[in-house]
Amino acid sequence: MTKPVLGILTLYLNNSKKLEERPVYEKMISEGRKIGLSVFVFTPQDVEDNEGKIHALIFDPDAKKWSRRWVRFPNVIYDRCRIQRSERFQQLLAFRKRYSHLQFLNRPLRNKWTVYRTLSKVAAFRPHLPLTRAYQSSDEVAQMLKKFPTVYLKPINGTGGRGILRIDRSSDGNLLLQGRNHSRSIVQPRNISRGSLSSALGNWDMHGDSYIVQQGLDIKLPNGRIHDYRMLVQKNGSGAWEVTGCAGRVGPLRSITSNLHGGGVATSMNSLLRQWIGNEASIASVRETAETFGINVAHHLEATYGALCELALDLAIDRKGKVWLIEVNPKPSREVFKQAGELEVYRNAIVRPIEYAMWFYRQKKEVRNQRSETSENVEMLNRRQLVELISEYSQSSGRLYARY
Ligand SMILES: Nc1ncnc2c1ncn2[C@@H]1O[C@H](COP(=O)(O)OP(=O)(O)OP(=O)(O)O)[C@@H](O)[C@H]1O
Ligand SMILES: [Mg+2]
Repeated sequence: MTKPVLGILTLYLNNSKKLEERPVYEKMISEGRKIGLSVFVFTPQDVEDNEGKIHALIFDPDAKKWSRRWVRFPNVIYDRCRIQRSERFQQLLAFRKRYSHLQFLNRPLRNKWTVYRTLSKVAAFRPHLPLTRAYQSSDEVAQMLKKFPTVYLKPINGTGGRGILRIDRSSDGNLLLQGRNHSRSIVQPRNISRGSLSSALGNWDMHGDSYIVQQGLDIKLPNGRIHDYRMLVQKNGSGAWEVTGCAGRVGPLRSITSNLHGGGVATSMNSLLRQWIGNEASIASVRETAETFGINVAHHLEATYGALCELALDLAIDRKGKVWLIEVNPKPSREVFKQAGELEVYRNAIVRPIEYAMWFYRQKKEVRNQRSETSENVEMLNRRQLVELISEYSQSSGRLYARY
């Protein structure tokens, strides 16, 4: 019997033929082999449309070597492509459109603004969502600053902390602007008067993206660094959502973001919560609230947008232990767990999509088998009924008519 095949769909880094998450794929391929799932990696650039073939990247765990081989389309596809401005991403969109009939473990999620609106329709989620508005002009920012001492301006399609601006209202009525530009560098903080808000925002390079304005959460540690949490929620080998782990991130000094790529460091959730909340019973209850929330969000987004296999929630926990959702990431990296020293979670984070892919394949196969069994039964039934009908008709056409 041939093994089921999983294709990991990704994009090459820049214009090279290099892969960003190669070590993670190597582990996934090795794990696949252990459970009888063949796994290869490919990008839309490797697909030969006319011949229906893929020039796939194959890893041999014994020889620890990568090679290329022409293969047929896989049974299941796991999409790891993150949104970006590039021709490669356009090729990905074209691939997904052309091959939408294939079996994907995950469908694309939506931008930060759409996801916020979707979640805010659910009453149980609303207490966990910082108030968010679509940015149209400095008016929304000025209004939000009347309600909250801090607001964040973020690109709806931003990643890695790029292009984020934070505005703090100070007691003298002035505003402090701090942020990171689209190359992720920290921009020089500026103090401005309220009256200059409009022109300051006009000078902020939005890179042509749409923005949201969001209530700023107070997550500054006593040492002045901001912190938050990354919770990974994944489908497991039985097709159920599960929290794989949650780790803390602490931003560098003078940074308004905690992202690891922006110099943040990872640490265990409990060690941060002990500094922040202290009491063990409250910590346990905060963790439970966060986990239940994470699972519910995953269920809801999957029901709204279609198949998903994993999500990472960026969570903030305020001083009172209230859990807030900063944003949802559909293509999470697992590095935070490795850096936090949570190696068991890191391993699970890699293994789960592979086990889920196997479950997914078997599930679809069972449904296909059931369908073909049902259609065979229907065909047999029809044939039998026809024979009965003909014999009945030949005995008495009048009786047959009466049955209708
Ligand atoms: N409303 C907020 N209040 C306090 N801190 C915030 C807020 N929004 C964002 N941050 C900080 O900025 C970081 C980056 O913001 P966010 O996660 O929304 O975008 P992103 O990281 O660029 O996206 P991605 O996680 O997809 O790469 C957060 O992890 C958090 O540290
Ligand atoms: Mg984030």
